[in-house]
Amino acid sequence: MAKALIVYATRTGETQNIGELIAEGVRFSGHEADVVGVKEVKNESDLDGYDGYVFGSSTYHGEMLQGMKTFLFLAEKANLEGKVGGAFGSFGWSGEANDRIFDTMKHILKMNMIGDTLRLKSSSLGGGQQMAQDYGREIAKKFNG
Ligand SMILES: Cc1cc2nc3c(=O)[nH]c(=O)nc-3n(C[C@H](O)[C@H](O)[C@H](O)COP(=O)(O)O)c2cc1C
Repeated sequence: MAKALIVYATRTGETQNIGELIAEGVRFSGHEADVVGVKEVKNESDLDGYDGYVFGSSTYHGEMLQGMKTFLFLAEKANLEGKVGGAFGSFGWSGEANDRIFDTMKHILKMNMIGDTLRLKSSSLGGGQQMAQDYGREIAKKFNG
């Protein structure tokens, strides 16, 4: 059984909701998943012991939240090279954050990223719940090879 860590930054809770649903998708596939807010991660050793990582932030003024920026610098110090990765975020109209997170995980952290990011306005709109759970299932597929 593999284990995923989902780390989110949120202002009003939408991105957290998406993260929780991604975790459900991982668990439906027979693997384990923990979900934590960026502020709960105090140092890089908190990232030890996982096979996959999914990081998410909502977009404000075209950017990810500051907490996620700070967290990504911390993640740079953990050795996540080759680990399964994905990125997500809630957005209103432009949604840059999830792409920036994805690119950082790919190019700087050198992780084994799944095909695309997950960008949703809300987990409760337009099939969002299913899409978020399916994203978790995609992460789980990558665990299986
Ligand atoms: C002041 C403000 C600025 C925002 N800027 C953007 C933006 O640049 N692009 C975008 O797609 N959404 C923007 N949004 C919308 C948020 O990303 C959206 O409400 C999202 O669902 C919030 O998710 P959260 O609860 O996880 O923080 C903005 C919202 C506020 C209140």
